[in-house]
Amino acid sequence: MSPRVLLTGATGYIGGTVLDTLVSTHPDYDVTVLLRNVPENFRSTYPNVKIVNGHFDSTDIIADAASQADIVIHHGLPLHDASLNALITGLLRRSEQSFLIRLSGSVMASDFMEEARLGSLNQKTWSDLYDVDTIASERPNALVDSGGVIVRTAAAEHGKKLKVAIIVPPATYGPGRGLGRTQSIPLPRYVIEAKKLGAAFYYGDGTNSQGWVHIEDLAKLYMKLVEAAAAGGGSATWGEKGFYFTSSQEVSQLNIARAAAKILKREGVVESDEPKQISLDELDGMLVNYRFPFASRYMFASNSRSKADRAKCDLEWKPDAPGLLEVIEPDLLEALRNPQPC
Ligand SMILES: NC(=O)c1ccc[n+]([C@@H]2O[C@H](COP(=O)([O-])OP(=O)(O)OC[C@H]3O[C@@H](n4cnc5c(N)ncnc54)[C@H](OP(=O)(O)O)[C@@H]3O)[C@@H](O)[C@H]2O)c1
Repeated sequence: MSPRVLLTGATGYIGGTVLDTLVSTHPDYDVTVLLRNVPENFRSTYPNVKIVNGHFDSTDIIADAASQADIVIHHGLPLHDASLNALITGLLRRSEQSFLIRLSGSVMASDFMEEARLGSLNQKTWSDLYDVDTIASERPNALVDSGGVIVRTAAAEHGKKLKVAIIVPPATYGPGRGLGRTQSIPLPRYVIEAKKLGAAFYYGDGTNSQGWVHIEDLAKLYMKLVEAAAAGGGSATWGEKGFYFTSSQEVSQLNIARAAAKILKREGVVESDEPKQISLDELDGMLVNYRFPFASRYMFASNSRSKADRAKCDLEWKPDAPGLLEVIEPDLLEALRNPQPC
């Protein structure tokens, strides 16, 4: 029998691309999406995908939908605990084994809460084979992933019945393929702030580095995990150690700023084709209304270095999309010409 898959965040940059990939790779799967707003062309584009109307606080609706799914792929807001708890409640109502694949983010691997580290290279690189327990636990100077705690606790208590995996992408780039947002977060945010400042920018000496992954490589990893779930678990790791970093490369902020300066200068958005070193006050004046305090320190001045050891080891994941600096121009131009509300 075809697996029944419930997917949330299906109009998002990541969720929309995963849905599109899933439907084209496995047209035989029985797919349902949770949507609070149904795009006009959704039904005509995905005639076989069922829609459940609801938002992340519609916990009864979410639990009911999950109780009818073999596999849940949860995108959307990683820090929205109620929706995650409702999905787990629904999956645990089933008598059969269920799978939950949950999106998180590598902000938890970032050193942005340590002011002295901002703008310079931190030697620490996190591995999802060796550092899971440390990175997923509460640490000083690190953002706690409350959803990760919920998922790992559920795995510890119900591991025989509920198989979980957490996908932890770094900064993501490349055009999305969904029907809602098709732009990622970090580069469009950078463009907005560079426009306001009148310069491409970096903080400190700009050697702080983050992992990056192309959205198509990320979608490929999702498929491998979904296929493993459909096969009853396959070679994937499920449970408390089911933690997948997905970085395919590292890029320093200075190299991003240098590339952006040339493109944005040519477009008449900034004055110089050389980036500007900004002060801490300037940095802290950016992204002030973002989802958590000091988000600009995280996005533009921190290190978040992680290795996708588990995906390569378990699932033979081989990212092969073009590198960030090879294709940064179309992403920057798209963010400039067609800004999408964040
Ligand atoms: N993009 C990256 O570089 C990146 C990397 C790592 C982790 N992440 C994390 O992954 C998450 C998803 O990223 P993304 O880039 O795909 O974000 P996105 O494009 O903003 O997608 C968010 C999705 O969640 C849905 N959603 C949000 N609030 C909802 C609610 N209250 N009820 C129902 N649906 C709701 C949105 O639906 P609507 O269309 O109705 O708004 C949309 O489908 C983000 O929170 C981010 O922190 C992102």
